[in-house]
Amino acid sequence: MEIKKINLGNQGLVVPLMGLGCMGMTGFEEANMYGEADEQEAIATIHRSLELGGNFLDTADLYGPFKNEQLIANAIAGNRDKYIIATKFGWEIDDNDKVTWAINGKKEYVKKAVERSLKNLNTDYIDLYYLHRLDKSTPIEETIEAMSELVKEGKVGYIGLSEVSSETVKRAHAIHPITAVQSEYSLFERTVEERGVLDTLQQLEIGFVAYSPLGRGFLSGQIRTIDDLPENDFRRAIPRFQETHFYKNIELVKAIEAMAEERNITSSQLAIAWIISKGILPIPGTKRRKYLEQNLAAAQIELSETDILKLESIVPLGTDTGNPYDEFSMGLID
Ligand SMILES: NC(=O)c1ccc[n+]([C@@H]2O[C@H](COP(=O)([O-])OP(=O)(O)OC[C@H]3O[C@@H](n4cnc5c(N)ncnc54)[C@H](OP(=O)(O)O)[C@@H]3O)[C@@H](O)[C@H]2O)c1
Repeated sequence: MEIKKINLGNQGLVVPLMGLGCMGMTGFEEANMYGEADEQEAIATIHRSLELGGNFLDTADLYGPFKNEQLIANAIAGNRDKYIIATKFGWEIDDNDKVTWAINGKKEYVKKAVERSLKNLNTDYIDLYYLHRLDKSTPIEETIEAMSELVKEGKVGYIGLSEVSSETVKRAHAIHPITAVQSEYSLFERTVEERGVLDTLQQLEIGFVAYSPLGRGFLSGQIRTIDDLPENDFRRAIPRFQETHFYKNIELVKAIEAMAEERNITSSQLAIAWIISKGILPIPGTKRRKYLEQNLAAAQIELSETDILKLESIVPLGTDTGNPYDEFSMGLID
């Protein structure tokens, strides 16, 4: 069945109601994000997403850096216009392609970053361009003015922000209409709800994109012990995947799995269907066709009010599942 299309924000961007997170398809510097990636299977997954109507791809210059955008360029060659591409900038990457770990939202950097992403994606336009993290030392107005110029120049279709507060969204939106905000959101991570960001977005008719909708794979039930994570796996540095939190969280996952089994679906599908039931667009990440197909099938699952209440009684709003990042990265969230 064709996947439904929705308006993301009120500026004219139409996308399938679920995107494909591409981050795990390449490593980061010397490490892997989520285990070994197979380039051919990753490319086949991007092709399959188009066949199934899930052609909204999410990447960033940071992923690799650049390897992820380059892999996408390779996968979509000859079919650019059939895909909707969202990429991000802001983590400063120097001229030797090294991530400096500063956030740079200055005008000159915005201009430099977009040219690099256009080159790496082998395209002349980016459908949705996000500021990956707020540069706390540059007024958001400066960054948005620079991004707005990219829209006028036709290099970017729509603009977005990631992991920002309501206050930042309002200031940004006053300069140029924001189409989407992307932040972490799942049964394990509902901070945007608690901090009123979702309410602000609704008032301003800005779309919301939920990244890590499977809690970085936790909610899939595939990870049972910390040792299931490869040695160089990014998740080992996240408190949510460490010690006490890990073993408390796994009990929640088991209860979610039991509920999914009663309905003959997987816990990943239940976690995705729950997000869609809230009118939110999830971008589950996978590097294999098998999971992509399962995830897109979740778009057809309808949860009743009772299902939602039951699920939210397993993981009530405010449940402490541990921080989603280490201390340094937590400090970069607005
Ligand atoms: N804006 C930001 O700061 C930010 C931060 C993080 C992520 N993102 C974006 O959001 C996207 C999604 O988030 P994410 O990849 O971090 O986390 P996620 O979607 O919550 O989880 C990805 C993990 O779940 C596994 N998985 C996916 N579908 C599955 C299924 N049906 N059954 C079992 N396991 C399944 C994947 O396995 P395989 O990899 O083995 O397929 C991968 O290990 C990323 O790709 C990236 O584009 C943005």
